[in-house]
Amino acid sequence: MNQSNIKKASKYLDKNMCVAIPTETVYGLAGNAYSDIAVKKIYKLKKRPLTNSLIVHYSNLDLLKNDCILNNNFYLLYKKFCPGPITFVLKIKKNSKISKHVNNKNKTLAVRFPKHKITQKLMNKLSYPIAAPSANIFSNLSPVSASDVKEEFGKKIPMILDGGICKIGLESTIISLVNKPVILRLGGLDKNKISKILKKNLKIKLYSKKNILPGQSKLHYSPGIPVRMNAKKIKKDEAFITLKKYKNSDKNYFYLSKKGKKNEIAKNFYSTLRKIKNKGYKSIAIENINNKGIGLALNDRLKRASKK
Ligand code: TXA
Ligand code: MG
Repeated sequence: MNQSNIKKASKYLDKNMCVAIPTETVYGLAGNAYSDIAVKKIYKLKKRPLTNSLIVHYSNLDLLKNDCILNNNFYLLYKKFCPGPITFVLKIKKNSKISKHVNNKNKTLAVRFPKHKITQKLMNKLSYPIAAPSANIFSNLSPVSASDVKEEFGKKIPMILDGGICKIGLESTIISLVNKPVILRLGGLDKNKISKILKKNLKIKLYSKKNILPGQSKLHYSPGIPVRMNAKKIKKDEAFITLKKYKNSDKNYFYLSKKGKKNEIAKNFYSTLRKIKNKGYKSIAIENINNKGIGLALNDRLKRASKK
């Protein structure tokens, strides 16, 4: 691990600049969450509407206690899953120093504890939490490697902290703990595992009619070309994706995991869509994905990507 790069990144952040950081889910575009200047830069770089709130990343509970009101459900889930691919929506404290642009002056804040050594080391050098949406232009595919981030932002950001390929490859699962627990985004952590800890079935509320949040907007996670789900027959000039590897030597054939392992499927999902787009295919067909576990999260993203 390159200590001098971590130090360099912390200096950029101290100067209110944005740098890309690795996490276990996807790469983030980070800025000082207390700074209006840094947070506004994030929105501008991503071309993201200011109404679409950001997730704030923490390295420790003490820092979070300054900003949010923590409840029992939070502690239960924190103990079991953090650091890890889960984001909590909590009530924000009145005297919190979080920039009002992070959450569009809302009374709630989305927070998470990412599990990646490099980013943890970086955060330990900082006196503030970092706001970090996925490091892609609004509504593009999320980046799962440093080179994906480079494709999105090129020289527009001073630095990409390279932490290799993201282990999970899907964004965090978001749960609101403001009132009764509600899942707001399906993601890297299976919602059934969360249900087990809270000992209740969880409501899922992915599309809210008012205040549509970015991960909830219908056109999202999009490779920029049409995606056809549950495909059986393949059309000419279409890229075809299956979950496990079949005997097929066609140039347009891609698989997500040799043996159909769930964690590999998730890990290779965004990078395969990005590869297909970069090869110049005009559309994508993907076979049926079982709507269970991580399959729920993948189908949710495919549905949004297939919307025009
Ligand atoms: O895995 C992840 O969560 C990645 C990495 C970089 O940490 N981040 C990420 O951020 O996916 P982003 O900005 O692409 O997605 C942020 C999501 C939005 O879709 C929105 O639904 C939710 O966070 N969000 C943010 N603030 C919220 C709030 N106050 N209430 C409800 N949802 C909120
Ligand atoms: Mg995103």
